[in-house]
Amino acid sequence: MQNWPYPVICAHRGGGVFAPENTLAGLRCGVAHGFKGVEFDVMLSRDDVPVLMHDPKLGRTVRGTGAVPDYTAAQLHAMDAGAWHSPAHTGERVPLFADVLDYGKQVGLWMNVEIKPVPGFEERTGTIAAQMTAQHYADWLAAPEQHRAQIPLLSSFSFVALQAAQAAAPQLPRGMLYEQIPADWQAQLQQLGCVSLHCNHKHLTPEMTQAIRAAGYWVFVYTVNEAARARELLGWGVNGMVTDRLDLLPPDFS
Ligand code: G3P
Ligand code: MG
Repeated sequence: MQNWPYPVICAHRGGGVFAPENTLAGLRCGVAHGFKGVEFDVMLSRDDVPVLMHDPKLGRTVRGTGAVPDYTAAQLHAMDAGAWHSPAHTGERVPLFADVLDYGKQVGLWMNVEIKPVPGFEERTGTIAAQMTAQHYADWLAAPEQHRAQIPLLSSFSFVALQAAQAAAPQLPRGMLYEQIPADWQAQLQQLGCVSLHCNHKHLTPEMTQAIRAAGYWVFVYTVNEAARARELLGWGVNGMVTDRLDLLPPDFS
């Protein structure tokens, strides 16, 4: 099996706790802290435009009521996604996924695109997020050996979304995401043609890590915010992780 080609420590939701999650300010913050890899969440608007958003309902990071698919991308893009975090980020908007792909590609940021469908929109979200990613990286995907480490990796808790992504853009790497790893993980990963298994580090064991690695998959965990725990996980053979604590787990952490 080849070595993990991506950054080992990645910034969770853009800039971790240091910037509003799933915003361009968040991504810039990750970059400013020296991070070469980042994770964020992608969801569809009412008019089928992918935007960065974690919660299916408004209220926590953007003011308002209702669900994300009640609003068009233009409406979502006009919403303030920064004020909840800190006054300095007031006016930071809900970003369009297309703009984030442009930004990430431009600055050479590796992206773990978590497809986060609102229930009922799994297939469509997977298809559109994969298509858009493949379009933005078409030139690099044409020379995969040269650019392998820079191509975004798609992950999702939704099997259906990842299956749709596989059908839409089979050339993009995929990772199945689990809160807790199910008994049939290997069959699922095989069916989806995954390169990696992503899971909550709290439920991972050294034995499980070894089994996943032995089966030929990389292991990527969320969300690790303590240096000692990160060291332990890396010792087990975990390949990569996301952190909210960009200060405690800097990009050159080992
Ligand atoms: O992709 C890993 C991690 O982001 C999954 O959890 O809720 O932060 O999207 P969540
Ligand atoms: Mg996520």
